[in-house]
Amino acid sequence: MVELLLPKNSQPTKGKTWPRPSGLRLREYRVYRYDPDTEDNPRIDTYFVDLDDCGPMVLDGLLWIKNKVDPTLTLRRSCREGICGSCAMNIDGFNTLACTKPMDDIQGAIRIYPLPHMPVVKDLVPDLTTFYDQHRSIEPWLKTTSPTPDKEWLQSKPEREKLDGLYECILCACCSTSCPSYWWNGEKYLGPAVLLQAYRWLIDSRDEATEERLDNLEDPFKLYRCHTIMNCAKTCPKGLNPAKAIAEIKKMMGERKAA
Ligand code: SF4
Ligand code: SF4
Ligand code: FES
Repeated sequence: MVELLLPKNSQPTKGKTWPRPSGLRLREYRVYRYDPDTEDNPRIDTYFVDLDDCGPMVLDGLLWIKNKVDPTLTLRRSCREGICGSCAMNIDGFNTLACTKPMDDIQGAIRIYPLPHMPVVKDLVPDLTTFYDQHRSIEPWLKTTSPTPDKEWLQSKPEREKLDGLYECILCACCSTSCPSYWWNGEKYLGPAVLLQAYRWLIDSRDEATEERLDNLEDPFKLYRCHTIMNCAKTCPKGLNPAKAIAEIKKMMGERKAA
């Protein structure tokens, strides 16, 4: 039987309840806090956000807390419009982007944790080093052997359309960190986000390294740990379907073997 041992200080404790502001319309936030510079367990702090002084999204509330109540609260964000992928976190039990998640979509207190099953750098900031190493491993750039054209690598309209549903991926990691197979084999299984990216290059008509890319994925762990549980497609904030991309790679592998 598998024995899972949680690190000594991984169990969150009840943290501080910060003072209520004077506004009439308040929203309660319960936020995971972890400071690696202390020996303390993580804790859940409670804050109250003044809705009359704050934008409508979950990220607006977090930034309001950081700017007006507790500057030590640590999180990533950049574009605040669902493009950069940096504000991915677990909100109300689902991995999503804080900047595009309206507070009004959530009933009761807004509970916020970092993306699950990743080491935590601080508070809501996960350590994505392995995730980015895995992305690098699939060589996410155009690989060609033909002479470089004078102007650009051309692609027909139907060829370009094959990239729809793939090129939109912002590498937020919401899908990979919702995937049970990635939780348990995250060092070896590439996970849905990276495999969707791998497929994006496999079917790019301009790329000339398809065989080499398939060789790189032909491994008992990298690709074949997907058990079609579909959490990835359910959670993707861009509405993409990594499970389908994984199935297409498996199909390409099968066709190659049969050829
Ligand atoms: S497929 Fe969706 S959830 Fe996964 S990394 Fe890309 S945008 Fe994020
Ligand atoms: S379908 Fe595959 S990649 Fe997606 S969550 Fe399930 S096991 Fe993970
Ligand atoms: S801040 Fe860029 S996706 Fe949310």
